Amino acid sequence: MSKKDVMIVTGAGQISMAIARRMGYGKKIVMGDKNIANAKAIAEIMNNAGFDVEPIEMDLSFRKSILSLIAKAQEYGEIKMLVNGAGVSPSQAPIEAILKVDLYGTAVLLEEVGRVIAEGGCGVTISSQSGWRMPQLTAEEDAALATTPTEELLSLEILQPENIKDTLHAYQMAKRCNEKRVMAQSVEWGKRGARLNDIAPGIIVTPLAVDEFNGPRGDFYKNMFAKCPAGRPGTADEVANVAELLMSDKGAFITGSTFLIDGSATSSYYYGPLKPES
Ligand SMILES: NC(=O)c1ccc[n+]([C@@H]2O[C@H](COP(=O)([O-])OP(=O)(O)OC[C@H]3O[C@@H](n4cnc5c(N)ncnc54)[C@H](O)[C@@H]3O)[C@@H](O)[C@H]2O)c1
Repeated sequence: MSKKDVMIVTGAGQISMAIARRMGYGKKIVMGDKNIANAKAIAEIMNNAGFDVEPIEMDLSFRKSILSLIAKAQEYGEIKMLVNGAGVSPSQAPIEAILKVDLYGTAVLLEEVGRVIAEGGCGVTISSQSGWRMPQLTAEEDAALATTPTEELLSLEILQPENIKDTLHAYQMAKRCNEKRVMAQSVEWGKRGARLNDIAPGIIVTPLAVDEFNGPRGDFYKNMFAKCPAGRPGTADEVANVAELLMSDKGAFITGSTFLIDGSATSSYYYGPLKPES
């Protein structure tokens, strides 16, 4: 088998696909998803459009599953790119699953890919604007989220059930942790000559977001679109625009960063009409 540069993608969703289509041409794309039907569906669309995608069943919440995905990817060649778009939203899963997938799983993935990423390689993970809405954590809490060994992360005091109010709070903690892990892990990736960044999208129309629109916070979202400066939700292709900057040579000086792309909904939340009544 001739070797190719490899892109690992987790989460066969709309955001992952948009980024994979933008940056994955000419590469072997190994696409892992817990729901293999999702991975197969995206693989079919992309393979019919000239890409080379292999769908794999994997679960981001287990290190063993992450390691198998990496081992599979290495059969094809050097891992040059990582796109982590796997995740569950506050309306889709209970607190424990959100912390296990979005927080712990992402941390393990960044760590394990960081051990094998090729020189000149790069990765992006997808956090969320949601992480920006939570009040500041203390410097010690931020440092704990950034640097606690992955197997001890879920034992942190701030992540215990009595300290997590609801699924939204769990999701916000997970997404805040993603940002902090990217900062800490970018130092490790840098030792291998590779870069790692994070994109924090606002509402992007995907099946995950549609679940949110139809869930208990549906009215909240409609209000957000109406009152955010962009006046609409975003598209996965606009997230891919940011990923293209971060993953191409133009982003060579960008690593360890989180880029917010939310139509200014966060700004409006703090300083405009989306500010909650106090
Ligand atoms: N869509 C939005 O509005 C939005 C906004 C901010 C952040 N995000 C984040 O973007 C990422 C991608 O979201 P999307 O909107 O493309 O969602 P999506 O629902 O289109 O795709 C998510 C994919 O992740 C997979 N997945 C779930 N749990 C998994 C697990 N344990 N292991 C492997 N795969 C798993 C799902 O099966 C699904 O195919 C998520 O992390 C989400 O939190 C989305």
